[in-house]
Amino acid sequence: MFYTIIGTQWGDEGKGKIVDWLASKADTVVRFQGGNNAGHTLQIKDEIYKLNLLPSGIIRGKKCIIGNGVILDPWALLKEIEKLKTQNILIDHSNFMIAENICLILPIHKIIDELNENLRGTENIGTTKRGIGPAYEDKIGRRSIRLCDLEDKETLEKKLNNLLKFHQDRLNKNNIKFDIFNLLEELILIHKKISFFSKPTWKILNELQKKETILFEGAQGSMLDIDFGTYPYVTSSNTISGQIFSGSGFSRRDKHLIFGITKSYTTRVGSGPFPTELLDDIGEYLTKTGKEYGTVTERKRRCGWFDANLVRQSVKISGINNIVLTKLDVLDKLKKIKVCVGYDIQGKNYDYFPSSEYKQNKIIPIYETLEGWDSSTFGITNWENLPKNAKNYISFLEKKIECEISIISTGPERSQTIDIKKIL
Ligand code: GDP
Ligand code: IMO
Ligand code: MG
Repeated sequence: MFYTIIGTQWGDEGKGKIVDWLASKADTVVRFQGGNNAGHTLQIKDEIYKLNLLPSGIIRGKKCIIGNGVILDPWALLKEIEKLKTQNILIDHSNFMIAENICLILPIHKIIDELNENLRGTENIGTTKRGIGPAYEDKIGRRSIRLCDLEDKETLEKKLNNLLKFHQDRLNKNNIKFDIFNLLEELILIHKKISFFSKPTWKILNELQKKETILFEGAQGSMLDIDFGTYPYVTSSNTISGQIFSGSGFSRRDKHLIFGITKSYTTRVGSGPFPTELLDDIGEYLTKTGKEYGTVTERKRRCGWFDANLVRQSVKISGINNIVLTKLDVLDKLKKIKVCVGYDIQGKNYDYFPSSEYKQNKIIPIYETLEGWDSSTFGITNWENLPKNAKNYISFLEKKIECEISIISTGPERSQTIDIKKIL
């Protein structure tokens, strides 16, 4: 079997927790896009793990692969490996591989990320400043340094010079000096530390797909997708399920379950349209109760009501056949709960999120109001024990997003999960 995990909103839906939970049924876990802009939090008993680049399956000791669709900051990777070591998670070439053709994030990309954001001024994206966008730009521009380029100093130097030539004018204009000699030496050192992870992972995956259960771990969410998200307020990769193939070289189309991870309300970090955003006491309540502060940048997440129009779109684009609904417990104390079921834009109804930024800014959400349940669902592990109104809320969402909800998360800890349909 093959499982794919996709965030259906603007990220931070609880993918890390669910990948860890589902990983018990998998042999190998694969990242296929994004980079260390992701922040996936897992809790096992009292221990909290925060992952940015490494697939969440690493905590269960599963084989893990970072595919070629990811953009790799090798310095960040080494830091993450060291940090996990202090939590007794050991990573070596027996359980971890990186695609040899992966493109690298270099220090210059973080500088350019900052310059780009400053240039946009009040229109900034609110990026994580990890250099993600500029590094993907260099990839598409065919200037990137790839992991496999580190094996030969001469080739690397030639490629670094070519890359720097492209950015030099802008760096000069901003009085930024870049020491190519230092960078070259650092990359040679990096190569010594990570070369044994570097493999033709597409080939290995093609062998593994004959006999293993493979889980693909998406980062970000569908509304941050470079094509289908709230462009330009998106990340620079495709975050939808179609990306698993080009982002890893995996090729099987059959036996595939695609899980959409969906928060019971909506959050977003950074700028951009957010039709159901709540700038009132309920928004504050969701931020506080849901502990909605970014894992990567610690920024406060914007919060709002569940947007069924938006999640239904994600379900369709990624071919999602199961939804995992997370953070149900955060709604426990609300007397009334609203769900956005459609958009009114200048008097016309929309059953999807239009691409035009002009239209997006004119969205008036159409809400239906449901009764809250006013009792604790925290940590509940079976369906029967959920309050009646919580069950009503879940059934209502299922209808509106046109997809079955098969798993519910009622707390951050691994075991705080309801496996309703027992489909695995
Ligand atoms: P990801 O980026 O999708 O992996 O999500 P994050 O880890 O950035 O954010 C989700 C946060 O919610 C983390 O702190 C999780 O520990 C926490 N979390 C996950 N599921 C639940 C849940 O069902 N209830 C509560 N209260 N917290 C949860
Ligand atoms: P996980 O995997 C939430 C957002 C940033 C910004 C935009 C572009 O934890 O769900 P970037 O640095 O990628 O160029 O920033 O995308 N963003 C995320 N928001 N969760 C994430 O990842 C995100 N990764 C990027 O806040 O708005
Ligand atoms: Mg996150």
